[in-house]
Amino acid sequence: MAVVIFLLQFLAAIILLPLHILNSLGLWDPFFKKVFPFLQSRVCESYNKLMDDEKRKLFKNMSDFSGPSKELRLLEVGCGTGANFKHYPSGCKVTCLDINPNFQSYLNKSQAENEHLIYESFVVASADNMTSVSDSSMDVVVCTLLACSVPNIPAVLKEVKRVLRPGGGFYFIEHVADIDESSWTTFFQKVLNPSWKLIFDGCSIRKTTWKDLENAEFSEMNLRHITAPISLKLAKPHIIGYAVK
Ligand SMILES: C[S@@+](CC[C@H](N)C(=O)[O-])C[C@H]1O[C@@H](n2cnc3c(N)ncnc32)[C@H](O)[C@@H]1O
Repeated sequence: MAVVIFLLQFLAAIILLPLHILNSLGLWDPFFKKVFPFLQSRVCESYNKLMDDEKRKLFKNMSDFSGPSKELRLLEVGCGTGANFKHYPSGCKVTCLDINPNFQSYLNKSQAENEHLIYESFVVASADNMTSVSDSSMDVVVCTLLACSVPNIPAVLKEVKRVLRPGGGFYFIEHVADIDESSWTTFFQKVLNPSWKLIFDGCSIRKTTWKDLENAEFSEMNLRHITAPISLKLAKPHIIGYAVK
């Protein structure tokens, strides 16, 4: 089976040869970073409609993490276009962080549509090195569809724990590798992952993010494997939940 997967990966690489050439010349990444916010805003629209129920259920207890003054300081890491804003409780103070500054105009639009929130700042930084966010300064951190595109998930989780106050909540939704190693989904995830990563800015459909979360030593972990109600089969396996520092 490994040989078949290798041959099909090779075939996919040949089909994508022009893209490989652009990438090796260093031209693909800057181009993709420019167009990604537009693509993401389109994908987000349908993804979020389909995931609306799951998100509403997930975020409904968020206010429980408010501090003694009832203030809720929230950091969204890999915020993208701000697709989650509508689910946050009123008066919540939101700091946005993303590695790609080209999301700014999309964020502005989402902020204007969600006046129930207080926006603190948009930090352009990498999730594994959030030095401008102070230790224990957040009640809640949110990451959705981020882990798939970061090379070092444990380093990101270490940063998440650093910026969360003790007892703070970490909410996540991630598409992951299928847990059934014998399924067709696993087969096609393995075949298409190298091409997928090349096209989508390093996004992997084979991440076992639940293992990193389990190893991160949160004091409480509420994690579910679900089949997301989306049409793209390869990205259907998801994990969803929240952890407490
Ligand atoms: C698939 S999008 C998801 C956006 C948003 N969280 C959502 O659910 O709609 C992934 C986001 O993570 C950002 N990202 C990727 N790698 C990152 C990193 N190392 N640090 C911070 N953000 C990153 C991308 O720029 C993009 O905005």
